[in-house]
Amino acid sequence: MTSISTKLTNLLRLRTPIICGPMAGASGGALAARAFQGGGFGFIGYGYQSLEKLKSEVDTARSILQVDSHAPLPIGIGYLGWRLERPNTPAKELLSLALDNNVQAVWFSFGLELQRWIKFIRDNELKQGATKIFVQVSSVEEALVAAHDWKVDVIVAQGTEAGGHGSSTAPSLLALLSEILSIIPKDGPPVLGAGGLANGGHIASLLALGASGAVLGTRFLLSPESLYSEHQRQALLSAHTTSSVRSMAFDQARDTLGWPSGVDGRGLRNSTVIDFEKGVEIGELRRKYAEGVTADDPDRIVVWAGTGVGLMNRVQPAREIVEELHDECVARLRAAASLLE
Ligand SMILES: Cc1cc2nc3c(=O)[nH]c(=O)nc-3n(C[C@H](O)[C@H](O)[C@H](O)COP(=O)(O)O)c2cc1C
Repeated sequence: MTSISTKLTNLLRLRTPIICGPMAGASGGALAARAFQGGGFGFIGYGYQSLEKLKSEVDTARSILQVDSHAPLPIGIGYLGWRLERPNTPAKELLSLALDNNVQAVWFSFGLELQRWIKFIRDNELKQGATKIFVQVSSVEEALVAAHDWKVDVIVAQGTEAGGHGSSTAPSLLALLSEILSIIPKDGPPVLGAGGLANGGHIASLLALGASGAVLGTRFLLSPESLYSEHQRQALLSAHTTSSVRSMAFDQARDTLGWPSGVDGRGLRNSTVIDFEKGVEIGELRRKYAEGVTADDPDRIVVWAGTGVGLMNRVQPAREIVEELHDECVARLRAAASLLE
């Protein structure tokens, strides 16, 4: 079977440079483990759950992958920085969980003290450099800091197309990625692209640009392993390319405020967004949202989704998603090479 070789696949010893990104509330141990079994790599998302819940997700991955305790675990954990930074959060315990479990990678995003968390990992890992550190960025400036000051192992360039949270001023992925690739030296960290990716052709186009891999989120929500509900998956299947919107409506409505300034989130436009834009009073917005949670109503609750959602039309096991994306990517790379005379 054809493998794809990039700086990322060499770093993590993967068959294909396809990553299931961390998705707070949506990617657990099963999704991360199955992405690895498909030949790629996956992250558990830490955002709102307890230390115990995070631990049980790691245990799930360990049991699916049949890896003995403390043996290296080929998954990652992605931490929302601002959630670690809240008072009374057991940040060190949450990070130590990754180290104690010997996960292969950690991912940091959306925080004001990411450098502190990176230092904690570096100071406490068993073997220097054993834990690969990913940082997600949305500007050239952030990429430069991550590469030169923090010396991260992998940079993820997240464009405005991305589902879930991101910078409200992020450029399109193609512009951002090209810009970042032009300033990161050849011997610098691998740079991956994220945002709006739906198929293997998209991934091939990023590799042709010079990226070392691709991160997908929304596509993996459409797997039985994701923690999304059946109704949320149905809403994704019915969505079109123009159905998503960047907004703070959902964070206001579900009271998950505390994101660094300039961050908002892309999800399916629904009644919560429409009410928010109309200026419906916040108490009323929250009350209706809570009713929506009870009813699992995707017209009220958040369904995070990137712009690629209109191209997604079925639910598939995560492992199969990675394998299909890989095969499509190989076919597109071959077709592109055949254009050369
Ligand atoms: C449901 C959902 C939750 C997400 N949660 C996180 C998160 O906890 N941390 C993070 O860095 N990115 C998060 N993201 C963003 C992803 O890491 C990734 O950048 C994005 O999904 C890529 O865009 P796509 O969804 O269009 O593929 C989330 C995305 C989604 C869809």
